[in-house]
Amino acid sequence: MDDALNAHLQAFVIDSNESLELRLVREIQDVDDEKTIFKPEMSHQVFGESETIFGYRDLKVKLYYSAGCLETYLGIDYTSKLKETTDQNVKADDVLQMLSNFLSSPVHYSLDSFFSSLVKDDTFVPAGELIQAHYVKGNNSTRKFEVYKAHMGDRNFKEYHKRMQTFILWYIDAANFLDVDDDQWHYFNMFERYVSASGSVRYATVGFATVYQYYAYPNHTRPRIAQVLILPPFQNIGLGAQLLRAIYADYIGRSEVKDITVEDPSPGFQRLRDYVDATNCSTLPSFQKHCLLQGFNKTMTIEARDNFKINKRQARRVYEILRLKVTNISNETEYRDYRLNVKRRLNIPLKREQRGLKNIELSSKVLNQGSEFGPEYYMEILEKEYRLLEEEYDKVIKRMENSAQL
Ligand SMILES: CC(C)(COP(=O)(O)OP(=O)(O)OC[C@H]1O[C@@H](n2cnc3c(N)ncnc32)[C@H](O)[C@@H]1OP(=O)(O)O)[C@@H](O)C(=O)NCCC(=O)NCCS
Repeated sequence: MDDALNAHLQAFVIDSNESLELRLVREIQDVDDEKTIFKPEMSHQVFGESETIFGYRDLKVKLYYSAGCLETYLGIDYTSKLKETTDQNVKADDVLQMLSNFLSSPVHYSLDSFFSSLVKDDTFVPAGELIQAHYVKGNNSTRKFEVYKAHMGDRNFKEYHKRMQTFILWYIDAANFLDVDDDQWHYFNMFERYVSASGSVRYATVGFATVYQYYAYPNHTRPRIAQVLILPPFQNIGLGAQLLRAIYADYIGRSEVKDITVEDPSPGFQRLRDYVDATNCSTLPSFQKHCLLQGFNKTMTIEARDNFKINKRQARRVYEILRLKVTNISNETEYRDYRLNVKRRLNIPLKREQRGLKNIELSSKVLNQGSEFGPEYYMEILEKEYRLLEEEYDKVIKRMENSAQL
């Protein structure tokens, strides 16, 4: 292909994350308000690893949902489209088809039909049982949020969930749509309860979490939080933490539940979990300052598990966060003791790795020569890991301190 043709075609390559516009529509006029647009964080599952769309100039892919029951509209706008050429064998991507494969039908391809469907939100109510309600104070108003626990058998829930889970394409890496016929899944859904312009009470979809009931010997379960999503227009106002608290509250009183785990948490979710767990554990006797400064112990594991279903690994993390919180870092000895304590824990897998390296014959040579895999190499890794961890812990501590002041 000559350079001129290549440059010509390049002009038709568009960033799919940029061109996709998502909206949650409460009223018809929301589609004219730029502020209601939110963007995906990723789109490779639909548009491929390069996250590009080919064949258009100024493409806008419009994927709108009604705010409550998630009626779906899909449309595209562009200023020009590449003309199909048989000789170069290039043609514009069929964007509607690519996306439709992932959406839950029926999908509206006409705005008029989508607008007509908005009335359904007047009668939409969340499926399942209301398990938690709380308020968030804004500048001029107080907003009410509710969490419902639903089952696939609940009326209209399967269809709703299929529409809801399409959002994971844009926000959760490598997430799969669930097998909705597997009854080990528990569904926690969050909504904003609000009054519409016409005066009716409505529910707007905020986010959801799915939790799988794993078996634990001999007759226990170990719920594992698999997917958690708070939609972007609702992020950073504390709703993620509130959703997690609602999930905990549902499992904490149950004797058959051993502890709760999380599948491959994103850094943002791990921070949120650390915040909720550390806040909870800070009320327990074994997590008070004098105990924390003496080191991690079995009582902490037991108290964290018995009161909050926190597993051992997370209990240790919570201990490290709360110990950092009470450590006087201006006191050299106290701070040094803390760092050593954490580094000893971080060093366990590194030592294992070193041992593994020794076992392959090469290693003795490598280690003696002080090459890149020598002791200095591991010291450096350890120091880096520690620094990153302390930064994350600091953020959790700041959030705890800020919320204590409210
Ligand atoms: C991770 C996720 C669930 C968090 O939800 P969220 O509702 O934004 O969570 P919160 O509002 O409780 O906390 C998020 C941040 O907002 C901050 N925040 C909370 N309330 C706040 C307030 N009133 N004012 C300012 N900041 C606030 C928190 O301190 C926290 O900050 P940090 O990220 O720097 O630690 C959400 O971002 C999400 O769905 N992400 C995409 C999917 C994902 O990663 N899922 C998890 C893995 S499956």
